[in-house]
Amino acid sequence: MKLKNEYKSIANDILNNEQFMLLKNYKHHGSTRYDHCNRVAYLSFLMAKICHANCDEAVKSGLLHDFFLGSSDQEENNYLNHPKKCVENARKYFDINDFEASIISTHMYHYALTKQLLPFINRDEKVKAKEYKPTSKEGKIVCFADLLASIFEVEHYRVKYSVWLYLIFVINLVRY
Ligand SMILES: [Fe+2]
Ligand SMILES: [Fe+2]
Repeated sequence: MKLKNEYKSIANDILNNEQFMLLKNYKHHGSTRYDHCNRVAYLSFLMAKICHANCDEAVKSGLLHDFFLGSSDQEENNYLNHPKKCVENARKYFDINDFEASIISTHMYHYALTKQLLPFINRDEKVKAKEYKPTSKEGKIVCFADLLASIFEVEHYRVKYSVWLYLIFVINLVRY
């Protein structure tokens, strides 16, 4: 309860923002984009506590990591482009600093890495995973929280694929 309250005290301003609440209108991994962002932020908050990272930065960036409106079929919102769009929106509607912007920009590292290792997934996309690599503890936390939340939300993920993703991610974090 204490943790939930602490989380809410950090997250409420963004969660109750009119523009941010528009995310409730978009489906995301079988839930809404609003719920997904809230879940990622809460997971990031818990991980930040465990890892002695900055909870405020983790929550704020976790909430705003997928702050884009419209369908993910639009080019600017696709897997690799949406982090840029989210930084743009976050700067427009909230007061974010460069550190938070970099966390949002690198949250798709798990996808970029998978894409580089398994290039047959969507051949049209070319990616250098290095460019998406989180540069801070909070960045790694939000990226990992996003991966965890996505696997939890997408029911049709196979266990094998999830384990594969975890392994790739953990190996690369250890190598970092
Ligand atoms: Fe995302
Ligand atoms: Fe996400």
